[in-house]
Amino acid sequence: MLKGEKVILRALKREDLQRQWAFNNDLEIEVLGGGDPPEPQSLERLEAEFDASTQKGGRDGTSFAIEADGKYIGGCALFHFDQIAHTCEMGIGIGDRAYWGHGYGRDAIRVLLDYAFRLRNLQKVWLTVNSDNERAIRSYERCGFVEEGRMGVLREEWEARFAGGQVLEQG
Ligand SMILES: CC(C)(COP(=O)(O)OP(=O)(O)OC[C@H]1O[C@@H](n2cnc3c(N)ncnc32)[C@H](O)[C@@H]1OP(=O)(O)O)[C@@H](O)C(=O)NCCC(=O)NCCS
Repeated sequence: MLKGEKVILRALKREDLQRQWAFNNDLEIEVLGGGDPPEPQSLERLEAEFDASTQKGGRDGTSFAIEADGKYIGGCALFHFDQIAHTCEMGIGIGDRAYWGHGYGRDAIRVLLDYAFRLRNLQKVWLTVNSDNERAIRSYERCGFVEEGRMGVLREEWEARFAGGQVLEQG
């Protein structure tokens, strides 16, 4: 549906599920992807989820299969839309290692950003990435993403700073 120089972004097909299942059970890919902790997934469950979703009809939304050389190599998506601010999150995962580091991710992201800004009228696309995922960070930077910052507080820091941390009155 959306054509780049190296990839096509299209709807996921049932025949892609075998490869998707292998990607979903590949610990390295799951950890690199960040997000939810890795959990095993059976092919039956993946197929059932796909079938339930397709039986509803309609459209496939903003999740795309990434196809290169006629093969399903991974997926990318836009989600967490904020309809007021016109922002959304982007996620991408190429599961086929043979396609890492050769510009396929960059091509898919550029196509997805073009779609997001010109066809969905978004003002901002954001993402999160593990700080040690240098390949992903490099690819994102080449597509125009800039680091906006990171803030957080650890439980022990909070406890040390606020004398045990308890604020709520009990009873
Ligand atoms: C992240 C991902 C989409 C990037 O796509 P890709 O096609 O592999 O990356 P690209 O080829 O577009 O860009 C990678 C860049 O990093 C460089 N690179 C490759 N391997 C690298 C490594 N091990 N360390 C640092 N840089 C690396 C490449 O040279 C390239 O830079 P360049 O274009 O300036 O030469 C893909 O690798 C992937 O899905 N990986 C597994 C899951 C994952 O990490 N998902 C991201 C979750 S946030």
